[in-house]
Parts: sequence; structure tokens; C-alpha cells
Amino acid sequence: MADEKPGLRSSTEVLTRGFDPRLSVGSARPAVFRSSTYVFSSPETAERAFDLVAGRATPQPGEQPDLIYSRFNHPNAEIFESQIVPLEHGARAAIVFNSGMAAITTALFTFLRPGDAILYTVPIYGGTQSFIEGFLDSWGISGIAVQAGDTAAIEDAIRKTPNLRVVLIETPANPTLTMTDILSAAKAGLERSGEPPLLMVDNTLLGPTFQHPLDRGAHLVLYSATKYLSGFSDLIGGVALATDPELIRKMRLKRNMFGNILQPDECWMLASRLPTVRLRMNRASKNAQRIAERLASHPKIRKVHYPTLFDDPNQIRIHEAQCDFPGAMFSLELHGGKPAAFDFLRRLRLAYNAVSLGGVETLVCHPKTTTHSGFTEAQSAEAGVTDGLVRVSVGIEDWRDLLADFEQALAD
Ligand SMILES: Cc1ncc(COP(=O)(O)O)c(C=O)c1O
Repeated sequence: MADEKPGLRSSTEVLTRGFDPRLSVGSARPAVFRSSTYVFSSPETAERAFDLVAGRATPQPGEQPDLIYSRFNHPNAEIFESQIVPLEHGARAAIVFNSGMAAITTALFTFLRPGDAILYTVPIYGGTQSFIEGFLDSWGISGIAVQAGDTAAIEDAIRKTPNLRVVLIETPANPTLTMTDILSAAKAGLERSGEPPLLMVDNTLLGPTFQHPLDRGAHLVLYSATKYLSGFSDLIGGVALATDPELIRKMRLKRNMFGNILQPDECWMLASRLPTVRLRMNRASKNAQRIAERLASHPKIRKVHYPTLFDDPNQIRIHEAQCDFPGAMFSLELHGGKPAAFDFLRRLRLAYNAVSLGGVETLVCHPKTTTHSGFTEAQSAEAGVTDGLVRVSVGIEDWRDLLADFEQALAD
């Protein structure tokens, strides 16, 4: 790892932090270190490295322990973890995983114990919901769902839930983009007696460019790095970041056990994508806003779900206070239900009919029959997942071509 250069701005730091060309035989870009095991500089440094990795010792400031084995750590993970920190406001440490789900499940396994409660906003990513409702419950952890965006109900539940250890917010919620107030949840946590619950935010849809949960009182930020951080729909990864490095150190001990670190090649790819995250997200958000606002008056469309088109005053307030820009996701509710939605998907020529999001290419899907097909009718109704809803992740193509594609797919 290279010396850190304090005082640089984040878009410079993302290119300069954590990488020393001398450790990559002078290469201007990091090498990929695929080795599974590392040669110790001495038996004493091996002993020290094992004490540190097992959590029996704490590192001295600036200490660079020997690498041991790639399930614990490797140079490409270290470089990536150093370089993502300046992109997340308020972060001081990061940890990389081999999927977004690995980041989420490891965070929950690290901080929850039998008898604890976890409060989570719904709708939430289906994998997260299944993990809480269909798995953690069998380990004696009770999951309490609260409606995304219902600020008063969330504050009340945070104040009153016994043994509340974790609050997990996903904002905006997928696919209707309902926003949840992070700051009010953090304040409610502080009003409880004793240690406040850990506030975790899945920031996949707007971070790290447009939404900064650590600035609003969150303790941990979670990502599916598969989405905007990667940006090209060609790898699966996850990240967690915190202001308190101790939280990340605790998760590292679990990652060592679970073996869910991201492989060197993918870390190298992901690190290469970081300097362009803001450029890609800014362009995609501008595209999405232009298209969403134009489609809002289309006669075939009942409603466009997009932050600049919110009509609920609480949602408008949260968006204005919490987000720098509205982002690149919107959903269209078509007149004509499922047949109209399927016709629209069949007719698209530029946008792909695929799940996932955050790539440079535009992806469109029908949540009711794909990403949210596990919902009951009641859950779908509550989450706003209607038969006529299609979700759009806007890419960085020319917005006029995308708008023309949507309009031709909506034509009679
Ligand atoms: C908001 C959100 N969180 C977490 C995940 C899970 O991430 P991954 O697929 O990288 O495991 C997803 C995946 O779609 C997601 O959309």
C-alpha cells in the first residue's frame, strides 16, 4: 500500500490512494496478484500477521502486516478498499465482498445475536428480505418490517422495539423509489436508552454519488457493487463502508471465516471503475430525468415514479434534504396492465429486457413477474408493484435515442 496524501479532493484521491507503483514493478496500473499464499519476511512477522488476522492483537498506527493467504486479504482487495473510501462521504474504512448479498449477510451475522431484533424497511431487495424473514428467524432473531418512507411509523418502531440491535434501510426503495429519511431514523436511535441500534443503509441505488448516509447518522453503508460501482454489468461484488474502522475490523474477522472476499481479478476491475463512477452516474441521472419528465405526460402512462415527479410532501422533503440528484432509475406504470407492459418490453429496440441496474446500458424489466415475483398479492399492492409497472435503469446512451425507443415501444 502507498503512503496516503492528506488534503486531496476525492476525485484525485480515488486515483492516487492505496497504490504504490514500486510494489507492481513500476507499472502505472496495479498488477493483479493472483497468488493464494504469500511468503513471510520472517517467522516473527508471520506470527504477528496471524495474531492480527485472528483478532488477538490490534494493529499499531501505520503498521503493514505481512500478507498471509488470499481468503483473508490480498493486494487487489487492499487497493480497492483504499480507493473507494474517499468516494463515500464520512467513510474511514471499507471492506469488499464477492457479492452485495455477501456484504449484507456478513454485516448482519457480525452484529446480530440470538434474541436481537432487526427493523427493516419494505419493499427491500428480495434477497435481503428472504435472509431476514426466511433464515435469521430460525437463528432466534426477529425481523420487523416497516413501510419505507413512513417517517413517523419508523421513528416510533425504533423507539419502542425491544432488543433492537440493527435498523436496515434501503432508500430509495425498489421499484417505486419511495425514500426513507435516514437522519430521522438515526435521531430516533439516539433517543433510546443504552447503546443505539446500528443504522445500516443499502445505498446501491444512489450512492456513492448522490446520497451520503454516513453524513446523516448511519453507521454502515452497504452496496451491491455489481451495480453503479462496477457499471458495466460484467461482475458481481459488494462493499461495506463505515466511519468507525472498528465496525469494518469486526466484519473482516467474519469474512475471513466465511471466505467471501472478492477475487483479485474482480477487485482489479472494480478499482479501475471507481474513478468514473461519478461521471457515469451524473450522465445517467441527467438522461433519466429528461426521459422521465417527458414520459410523465404520455397518454399510455398512468404514472412515472421518479424523485423529481414526487407529489407526496414528505417524499419531496426527504428527496430534497437527502439526495444531491435524483438518480438514474425510474418506473413507468402503464395503462393496460401486464399485456401492455409485456408489449412495451417486446417492442424495445435499444433498451434490454433484463434485471439488475446501474450499467452503462439501459435495462428494463417487469418487476411483478421477475424481481418481485416472490411477493404475495398483498405485498405487491403495498409495495406498489402493479401488473402494469416496468422498471427502467437508464444508462449513458444519448437520451434522445432512448426517449425515441420508449416512444416507439409505446406507439399504437
Ligand atoms: C438494492 C440491492 N441491494 C443488494 C442487492 C444484492 O446484490 P448482489 O446481486 O450483488 O448480491 C441488489 C441486487 O439486485 C440490490 O438491488
